[in-house]
Amino acid sequence: MVCLGNICRSPLAEGILRDKVNKSGKSAEVDSAGTSGFHEGEKPDSRSIEVARQFGIDISRQRSRPFRASDLQEFDLIYAMDQSNLNNILDLAKTDEEKSKVKLIMDELESSVAISVPDPYYGGEDGFKNVYLMLDKACDEIVKKL
Ligand code: 4NP
Repeated sequence: MVCLGNICRSPLAEGILRDKVNKSGKSAEVDSAGTSGFHEGEKPDSRSIEVARQFGIDISRQRSRPFRASDLQEFDLIYAMDQSNLNNILDLAKTDEEKSKVKLIMDELESSVAISVPDPYYGGEDGFKNVYLMLDKACDEIVKKL
């Protein structure tokens, strides 16, 4: 799960997907990263921690890390939150196989056409709840396909 800072959107996506994988009885390694290293080592934004807590998920132990080119080898599926994240990840992909792993997360929903998960960083609490609900729907589809 990849966004820009790895403190708002992708930590929520990581927490939601891990929770759904665990509840499904399936098995998958779930991680998240940011295309920038600007917040490296930081906890998720307090507003992301709070909205996750309201839905029964603890993301407070996550720490931001930058996305690495090696993630394109190590992981089977790489989900970008928005088009800018997607482009930055694709710039690091060396092979067609690596490129084929990378998708916009909202493209998992059949009804969505290139929808981005909006960056909630400069907005209010509502933005975080909206992000949570979008990611919750997308992660349902991801788990179904595992
Ligand atoms: P994220 O949100 O990419 O969802 O973690 C942001 C966090 C920090 C900044 C931008 C977006 N920032 O500019 O510091």
